[in-house]
Amino acid sequence: MKTWRALSALVMVMCMCAGSALGAQRTLVVATDATFPPMEMVDRNKQIVGFDIDLLNAAAKEAGFKVEFKNTAWDGIFAGLPAGKYDAVISSVTITQERLKEYDFSEPYINAGQVLVVSKNLNVKSLAQMKGKKVGAQIGTTGAMEIKKAGIELKTYDEIGLAFADLAAGRIQGVVIDTPVAADYALQKAEYKNKLKIATEPFTQEQYGVVVKKGNKEVLDLLNKGIKAVKAKGIDKQLEKKWLK
Ligand code: ARG
Repeated sequence: MKTWRALSALVMVMCMCAGSALGAQRTLVVATDATFPPMEMVDRNKQIVGFDIDLLNAAAKEAGFKVEFKNTAWDGIFAGLPAGKYDAVISSVTITQERLKEYDFSEPYINAGQVLVVSKNLNVKSLAQMKGKKVGAQIGTTGAMEIKKAGIELKTYDEIGLAFADLAAGRIQGVVIDTPVAADYALQKAEYKNKLKIATEPFTQEQYGVVVKKGNKEVLDLLNKGIKAVKAKGIDKQLEKKWLK
């Protein structure tokens, strides 16, 4: 009887070890502010889709983990990391020296600078020429920082879509935003493409990375393993063709 019990206990332990070694992939909960087309957005079927979503899913497949996306407001999105609300943030987040002090970033996965969007009939070629005018950006973004740095009156918004609505209505005279998002709003959206234009070349160099809590090496290693494989296989370039026009 004793040996039988010992044996069955042994078999159970062996099964558990095999289970965790073979099956049971790690699931990372990842926050994204899905108001940023074509990078992250909610589609007609209420699914979170976009370049970042495809990129992270591809990285997960390469490195053998799973991802569960959590739509999260941008303002305060980083604070959810130390609070343990999720494991990572993918949300077109620019790697900056400021942010590196408080958080860790994955390898960069794309480069996207800021541009200025204005009304079609406004004749400006640079942000500096917006002196005396009001320019909008999403709160706490690199775009907002550029407007302040240029000494121009800044109006902040919780979501970039609200800034474009104000621009089209003439309540502000410009929007500073990441190039892919500018192209989506100003050149593609039916309600804006006849009204708005991109007035400048990208005037910053920005690399996007995935953000984790400082020191979370376990998650960072998984992310980097996946992102490296995605880049090595050229999947990132395929996704640029699919999402960025
Ligand atoms: N790249 C800019 C930044 O990091 C804007 C990112 C905003 N992302 C978003 N999903 N709303 O500040």
